[in-house]
Amino acid sequence: MKRVAVLISGRGSNLSALIAAQDASYKIILVISNVEGAGGLEKARAAGIATAVVPHGGKSRETFDAELDAALRAAGAELVVLAGFMRMLGEDFLTAFRGRVINIHPALLPAFPGLHVHKQTFDAGVKIAGCTVHFVDTGVDTGPIIAQAAVPVHEDDDVEALRARILAEEHRLLPAVVRAIAEHRVVVEDRKVRVLAAARTGEVLRSI
Ligand code: GRF
Repeated sequence: MKRVAVLISGRGSNLSALIAAQDASYKIILVISNVEGAGGLEKARAAGIATAVVPHGGKSRETFDAELDAALRAAGAELVVLAGFMRMLGEDFLTAFRGRVINIHPALLPAFPGLHVHKQTFDAGVKIAGCTVHFVDTGVDTGPIIAQAAVPVHEDDDVEALRARILAEEHRLLPAVVRAIAEHRVVVEDRKVRVLAAARTGEVLRSI
């Protein structure tokens, strides 16, 4: 059973999806927020999951990362999932957790990295949008792509309609990737990540 820590900064709807999808393959053992009062903290507590707040204000990157590192190690975290976590992680932290930090991003990377992703997507007039789960490296949304899911952009969409359509796919994709990693079905060859066939009937990991 893979011991998973989830890092959040906000409402935690992806966290809720991860909580709901827990099975014999993985267990969420800690939720950390850098924002006190983040909605996701209450969702974790309601599910009986340990929480911690590690504020970033007034600290160097190194100090913040070291506090995260200490909390994750104390909890025995084996996989770190960034689910709406709005801080960059430094090189030392990522080296220590090499290959064990993943992020969900609401666009089909490498298109539309960074912030205000839905507006960027909408304003670009693309016809297909989606979400990406990727390993985290020191760049902004640049790590090796594990899986993606696509959604159409409709003519009468607004940014919020598009956001909701993408979010529904995030809630499906992220737990599927966490399960695949927990089941040792994710193979990394430099930039190329392969997700081996589902171990169980009915589990589908779409990749485009
Ligand atoms: C999601 O859109 C995720 O892709 C992005 O931040 C948002 C977090 O939403 N990284 P939630 O807190 O999981 O509801």
